[in-house]
Amino acid sequence: MLADKHILLIVGGGIAAFKSLDLVRRLREHGCRVTPVLTRAGSQFVTPLSLSALSATKVYQDLFDLTDEAEMGHIELSRAADLIVVAPATADLMAKMAGGHADDLASTLLLATDKRVLIAPSMNVRMWEHPATQRNLAALQDDGILVVGPNEGDMACGEYGPGRMAEVPEIVAAVDDALADGPLKGKSVLVTSGPTHEPIDPVRYIANRSSGAQGTAIAKALAAAGADVTFVTGPADVPPPPGVRVVKVQTAQEMLQAVQAAPIADAAVFAAAVADWRVTNAGDSKIKKDGNGLPTLEFAENPDILATISQTNKGRPKLVIGFAAETDDVITNATAKRLRKGCDWIVANDVSPATGIMGGAENDITLISDDGAEDWPRMTKDAVATKLVQRIAKALS
Ligand code: CTP
Repeated sequence: MLADKHILLIVGGGIAAFKSLDLVRRLREHGCRVTPVLTRAGSQFVTPLSLSALSATKVYQDLFDLTDEAEMGHIELSRAADLIVVAPATADLMAKMAGGHADDLASTLLLATDKRVLIAPSMNVRMWEHPATQRNLAALQDDGILVVGPNEGDMACGEYGPGRMAEVPEIVAAVDDALADGPLKGKSVLVTSGPTHEPIDPVRYIANRSSGAQGTAIAKALAAAGADVTFVTGPADVPPPPGVRVVKVQTAQEMLQAVQAAPIADAAVFAAAVADWRVTNAGDSKIKKDGNGLPTLEFAENPDILATISQTNKGRPKLVIGFAAETDDVITNATAKRLRKGCDWIVANDVSPATGIMGGAENDITLISDDGAEDWPRMTKDAVATKLVQRIAKALS
């Protein structure tokens, strides 16, 4: 996948910049053409000469270099590549990208590009964990920026934790993934994931044990297959995957709104464990033990998101897939659920505590469709996701 691809490599100012020299070599070994862009801070760590020697091409450094503008303007430079890679992506570069700044060549290229961008963050652990960086990371992921790393380990500054730039082979693999023309290229897929939280009062809520792991794995596999993924997630335990459009919600009603506001999809996978009921007399202030006995909660049924989308006449995805989390009579209940809700496929699983599926790393599913019930062997949630995505690709082809 890498042969003959053109990578624009932006080298930011971090101690990991030395690894970028090796990255240039490895990418070239795979047949890539690499055009380096060195930020002012990056040039404190590696020289333009070494980058130029290793890439066998000119290194671009300054926004207002008239010769560069005469030869190749920054817009063209940012669009001539197949992929833009930022390695190392410093906290400052990430902040500039998230804020849409364009005050030097690197940030201008990143704002002007219409190509996919992969960043390999690298910074001190406290900078990485700072809420500002995490906010910027979330914003970048929302924008569809791909992220590889950072890894956890000893840092040049003497501290330990996440912040080390991903190793060169990991970055090369991420570049390969980013360039892959997957079977779902050009298709748009919606995924719901995670639990919903239904408030009782400002401090309490009703939830369920869904970790969001299966929905996240599916969204990741869809993105890897080239799909344009909108990922609507409740408050899950696992972070959203890179390279998808993330919409975070809390309640079932918010999830329905987000799903209805999402771009029209070719397929939709409803993996969320949506709360069936919400509290209609949820308090605006904390319910107190005031000696007047136990509080009484009143419930209303939440909208059924899967059924709503399955039964819509306007913009129904060609393929609608639901999940059925059951503890008894799995196949019978799931088969009835598919017909009741009007979806095309149901991924049925037994979530009895003894199975360890809810919150665990593995899943044991039966795929129910018009063709009947197909039992899959127990496998990791990632493997279920990969297999399901292959099926989706086949159904949409
Ligand atoms: N679902 C949904 N909206 C709801 C409830 C469920 O979109 N309000 C979706 C889930 O994402 C899943 C499927 O419907 O894809 C089945 O969810 P499940 O919890 O198994 O079923 P319920 O509809 O809650 O039915 P029951 O409580 O009878 O098992």
